[in-house]
Amino acid sequence: MAASLSLHASSIIGLQNNSFGTPSDLLSFSSHFQSSSLKFADMKGQLYSTKVSFVARAESSSVGFDIDTSLSPRVNSVKPSKTVAITDQATALAQAGVPVIRLAAGEPDFDTPAVIAEEGIKAIREGFTRYTPNAGTLELRSAICHKLKEENGISYTPDQVLVSNGAKQSIIQAVLAVCSPGDEVLIPAPFWVSYPEMARLADATPVILPTSISENFLLDPKLLASQITEKSRLLILCSPSNPTGSVYPKKLLEEIAEIVAKHPRLLVLSDEIYEHIIYSPATHTSFASLPDMWDRTLTVNGFSKAFAMTGWRLGYIAGPKHFVAACGKIQSQSTSGASSISQKAGVAALGMGYAGGDAVSTMVKAFRERRDYLVKSFGEIEGAKISEPQGAFYLFIDFSTFYGAEAKDFGPIDGSESLCRYLLDKAQVALVPGEAFGDDTCIRISYAESLSALQAAAERIKAALVALRPAVCV
Ligand SMILES: Cc1ncc(COP(=O)(O)O)c(C=O)c1O
Repeated sequence: MAASLSLHASSIIGLQNNSFGTPSDLLSFSSHFQSSSLKFADMKGQLYSTKVSFVARAESSSVGFDIDTSLSPRVNSVKPSKTVAITDQATALAQAGVPVIRLAAGEPDFDTPAVIAEEGIKAIREGFTRYTPNAGTLELRSAICHKLKEENGISYTPDQVLVSNGAKQSIIQAVLAVCSPGDEVLIPAPFWVSYPEMARLADATPVILPTSISENFLLDPKLLASQITEKSRLLILCSPSNPTGSVYPKKLLEEIAEIVAKHPRLLVLSDEIYEHIIYSPATHTSFASLPDMWDRTLTVNGFSKAFAMTGWRLGYIAGPKHFVAACGKIQSQSTSGASSISQKAGVAALGMGYAGGDAVSTMVKAFRERRDYLVKSFGEIEGAKISEPQGAFYLFIDFSTFYGAEAKDFGPIDGSESLCRYLLDKAQVALVPGEAFGDDTCIRISYAESLSALQAAAERIKAALVALRPAVCV
């Protein structure tokens, strides 16, 4: 593309200087450059400016080469994110003036607490704006070690911690670091959309372990035991869970640990990013704190959810040095260390007190109030099935009772995707189809929105569902 662009630039200079031939001598470019103003320098450094028109004709360019547009099998095996697709659709509607209530995104509606933001601002003012060590500042890694010891009962030294640009990066690096081609990654469903795709990116095979709403979407240890093979390399656990809000009780984790312990090749990635967003009496247990699990567990956490810091891009992994160093090697050849400014803010976040102190507990209180409202409100819908979430800020609700309906001016509702499209169309509420999370019976509602917006959304959803099946009392 760079070579093409310079060719094109010289064509324009030629045109401007009247020294060039016919328009067919022009190389063509992609359509979004159809008409634009360009500035560029000639050999003597003189600046030319001109308004030019381009024609999109890349494949049949007159310079006589065809571009191979094929993509790697690796990227072809990855599915595009449905959450992104529906969010984009909702955003387009909102931009067109449609009053869409957006309950699809997975990010808190709160601002980053001021004490954290101020530390970031201070870092900029004080010139703390250079590269940090690849693994993160010692200050932040020490604070993370302190947090993991005090809150989670797990001991790490700073060289067993790698700070990344978000937990998402921590997870993909871990999967890439430990999985060989053909290895199996065990993933309980419903799952966070990225886990299976990350396994595919590592040339590993995702093995989905279904759970049921009647069991609060918790993994049955017997099912796990039956699915482990010599190829099983990684079990990914997420508690509190996105998308279900389920929290694994300690006893169940102990049963899982007993099974895992029998398989020397099997590691566990414990995604604990929603750890602080938990509703008592539920409590959080870190998998690495269980007997004999430290050596084989990679603990992932981050700042996005609990501290409302999604845009700061800060997460981390902690585990045995051997694995963490391998993750660090990947990071050193891709992004390098996380933002220096965000790392200063991260230290401030961890300094706010146990489990994030008052600022976090105020947010959690609001999430709980919203959860209670939604569970009660949707609980009134006949045929809908709900497992009350114990953490995170999602409700994963089974509306499959409405599948098979024929919606007026819309068509058949035959699964979670058409139901979500219908609700976006008729109720103007954006939700995510459960199919994206490996369970087509449900849809995910994010309650990271104000109570008043949720109340309006619930009313609209109910009205749209009534229209689907008038005989049913909703
Ligand atoms: C379960 C889970 N893990 C990890 C992440 C990634 O978080 P981040 O990269 O923002 O730290 C998310 C974000 O949606 C998530 O829901």
